[in-house]
Amino acid sequence: MFNKDFIFGCSTASYQIEGYIDSDGKCESIWDTFTKIPGKIDDGSDGSVVCGSYKRYKEDIKALKELNVDSYRFSIAWSRVITENNKPNIKGLEYYKKLSQELAKANIKPLVTLYHWDMPQWLEDKGGFLNDEISDYFAYYTDVVTKYLDGLVSDYITINEPQCIMQLGHRVGAHAPGTIYTDKEMLQAIHNLLKCHGKAVKVIRNNIKNSTVSIAPCSRPMVPKDRENELLEEKCYEKYFELKRDYEYPNTVSIYMDPVFLGDYPKEYYEIFSDVLPNITKEDLDLISQPVDFIYQNFYSGNYYSLDENNNLVKEDFYKGYPEGNIGWLQVVPEALYYGPKYLYERYKKPIIISENGFCNNDVISLDGKVHDPERIDYIERYLMELEKVSKIIDVKGYYVWSLLDNFEWNNGLRKRFGLIYIDYQNNCRIKKDSFYFYKKIIKNKKIFS
Ligand code: FCB
Repeated sequence: MFNKDFIFGCSTASYQIEGYIDSDGKCESIWDTFTKIPGKIDDGSDGSVVCGSYKRYKEDIKALKELNVDSYRFSIAWSRVITENNKPNIKGLEYYKKLSQELAKANIKPLVTLYHWDMPQWLEDKGGFLNDEISDYFAYYTDVVTKYLDGLVSDYITINEPQCIMQLGHRVGAHAPGTIYTDKEMLQAIHNLLKCHGKAVKVIRNNIKNSTVSIAPCSRPMVPKDRENELLEEKCYEKYFELKRDYEYPNTVSIYMDPVFLGDYPKEYYEIFSDVLPNITKEDLDLISQPVDFIYQNFYSGNYYSLDENNNLVKEDFYKGYPEGNIGWLQVVPEALYYGPKYLYERYKKPIIISENGFCNNDVISLDGKVHDPERIDYIERYLMELEKVSKIIDVKGYYVWSLLDNFEWNNGLRKRFGLIYIDYQNNCRIKKDSFYFYKKIIKNKKIFS
């Protein structure tokens, strides 16, 4: 049983659900540009239609109300609310105001992400995260939004998954903008991104009374296969926060979270990157580490580990008989929602909120006209059982399902479905899946049940 103040929510992101990418003075974002490059998106789709939430937000909110969620996490498209000459775009701002007003009427608390990957193209053309002034642009954008939504929104996430921004957007090149950074550029961009976070926190604290704010990284916890083995858990913990100069370093936890929560990069950062370090001042580190309220974290998967005879970690690929997601990276590892929060809490000592967790499936409309998704139900239930277990020993405040609606799954396009609501993109209709009703019961009872 979760306690009565526990927050249950759903999350979405602007580019993935809104559609209407040319409306009301919106300028191009890097995803508008990227999706036009042949071969970048698996099924050749883009965000131009998707769920149409820019016009259908009242329907979204009606469904949220039916679920009876406490909170709705959505993101603001920077390219809708700021023009190419860096001025507020009132029509774009009005959309988010109406959305927030409608949520208020439904008694659902908005949780707003300021940056869920859709950088305005004109800013990318000025260097994006490599531009030393990007944090001033981000602070200005934050100032405009927070003032416009004053009295309606008090809870903010500055940046979603810095790991994916850097690893997928600038190392692998699978995500927008797809420009590959050298190590020197990567570290500079990461530092600038963290300054964006810091300046936004400052603006939010100045503009809003009783605000809450933090950043929402993602991670893939190392899970001890034998839960009783303390040494194994200790080694998994160490590996989770490890920083090495390898292909994956932009995808690690500590390079972002240590500066935000502990006030500095990990010690090894200065050693392994000594030849490519950006200029890091005490003032920057103070800015980046201003107090935040929560540890938000997006968790989907993890990896099991055991120890060999010399007590070295060995990655285990074993099949537990759980349903499998239809997206390559989503192995079902429910214990990720136990160990991930536990490790984070031990190191950073702040209350935890799971800002995304969900399952990707080949959902179909059955002959009875319904969408039966027992695999997603199984996934949510197993993960929540682990979260409930860990919430007995650490402070866990909430859980957001990804996602309310099927939507545009970045480079994987429209065929990868994560929603509690099925979207029939051709016929423009929506069908609540079985998992929708399952989540509704969980919220009603604040507990998991089989
Ligand atoms: C996360 C993203 C989110 C969604 C889910 C499936 O990495 O934050 O937008 O694509 O994965």
